[in-house]
Amino acid sequence: MLDQTQNPYQMIARELAQQFAPRAAVWDETREYCWENVRDLADAGLMGMTIPERFGGRGASFYDTVLVIEELARTCTLSARIVVEANMGGISAVMAFGSDAQRAFAAPLVLAGDKPAICITEPRAGSAATEMQTTAQRAGGKYILNGSKHWITGGGVSKLYVIFARVIAEDGTDEGITGFIVHYDPEAGITPEGFEVVRRERTMGLCGMPEAELRFTNLEVEERFVLKPPSGFKRGFADLMSAYNSQRVGAGTVAMGIAAGALDHAKRYLRERQQFGRPLQEFQGLQWMLADMDTAVHASRLMLHEAAQSRSHLGFPDIVMAARAKAFASEAAIRVVSDALQIFGARGYGACEPIERMYRDVRMFTIGGGTAQILKTQVAGALLGIKTPQTRDGYLKLAQQ
Ligand code: FAD
Ligand code: COA
Repeated sequence: MLDQTQNPYQMIARELAQQFAPRAAVWDETREYCWENVRDLADAGLMGMTIPERFGGRGASFYDTVLVIEELARTCTLSARIVVEANMGGISAVMAFGSDAQRAFAAPLVLAGDKPAICITEPRAGSAATEMQTTAQRAGGKYILNGSKHWITGGGVSKLYVIFARVIAEDGTDEGITGFIVHYDPEAGITPEGFEVVRRERTMGLCGMPEAELRFTNLEVEERFVLKPPSGFKRGFADLMSAYNSQRVGAGTVAMGIAAGALDHAKRYLRERQQFGRPLQEFQGLQWMLADMDTAVHASRLMLHEAAQSRSHLGFPDIVMAARAKAFASEAAIRVVSDALQIFGARGYGACEPIERMYRDVRMFTIGGGTAQILKTQVAGALLGIKTPQTRDGYLKLAQQ
């Protein structure tokens, strides 16, 4: 067994996970955002733990962060997801290639407890994200955003929004996709005109986290809030996606952490429950099931740790390692939690055990953050040395060759 018990962040997270365990059912039931947990996470220094020290963070690594995420996900999926988005994805892009002014603006918000929202998906552009239609029309020193995004995690409760949009030059030329930083905080009276939280989805799991549709109508963003990737707007999407690979590792770790938690519950119940005059743990069929569950969690953990420690384009996790680890971990976690529920019999199906909630929560992870199919397409593309065009434009280009 690898000994990770010495990691200080992991030890803090382990303690917090115990505090969060009884609260997880409350957020699920009330569908309220877990502000109480967020305060505890911020006090413990886990919000923005990857932010460099010169901007007030701890300069922790993605590897430190995945250790934290696993611990939290064992008891409270929402808190684990918040730690993902407060350290990876959008905020990591701002920290890696934002201007100093952008970093100095974003860091205090996150350190104080904000979970930034990353806004990529649109009603007509899900997996085909490069077909997004949200535009950012350049107008003098400003950009005017029009379009809509849906399934935005934290939409309405987040204060910092990294919005992906297509830059349109003053002469109408499409210059490529980049990120725009928008600050929204109604409680502080910050409500940018043209930024609207249209509605919240009703979801099967992860119930305390708003998944919102946002609409932008002539939303003005000043030049200083444009996130300019190192290789410019034309390559902006690829650079932003490189940062997003960290979030994929984080999301895969949430799934793995839920599975690890479900495995612990299953072990407990196998000892406790008696049938046919014996504890369940004495039935070999269930022992084999448990061994398969443990193997799946262990394999996922190794792949996720490998991906978290890899350094590829711009220092972010390697695209293939991240895709492979998230696809594997999310599919494995769904099976593991389902098997844990089976071990509990009727008790697993009822809300008296956390397994019922974990089963609903874990289902999302083969969908959000790049579906398992899309991630496997990326892995296969690398194995075969081919790029299969996904988009209509891609096919048209290929046809012209
Ligand atoms: P589609 O793209 O319509 O796909 C439908 C099905 O077809 C899927 O099974 C998919 O795998 C398959 N498919 C599509 N294309 C291919 C292909 N080329 N080859 C093989 N199979 C294919 N987005 C954000 O921008 N920000 C967020 O914060 C965010 N949070 C989310 C939170 C939750 C809980 C969920 C459920 C989603 C979230 N999303 C977010 C959106 C998420 O990223 C998209 O759902 C995802 O990218 C898939 O898009 P889609 O749902 O439109 O499915
Ligand atoms: N990491 C680094 N670079 C990436 C990347 C990633 N995860 N995904 C794409 N890129 C790069 C590609 O390598 C490509 O660069 P190239 O021009 O040098 O080849 C460029 O970005 C465009 O990608 P491509 O695969 O050509 O895009 P596409 O138009 O075929 O669209 C995607 C496919 C990228 C949109 C699709 O694979 C995808 O990831 N969909 C899921 C979107 C998602 O995760 N949404 C989550 C929202 S929270």
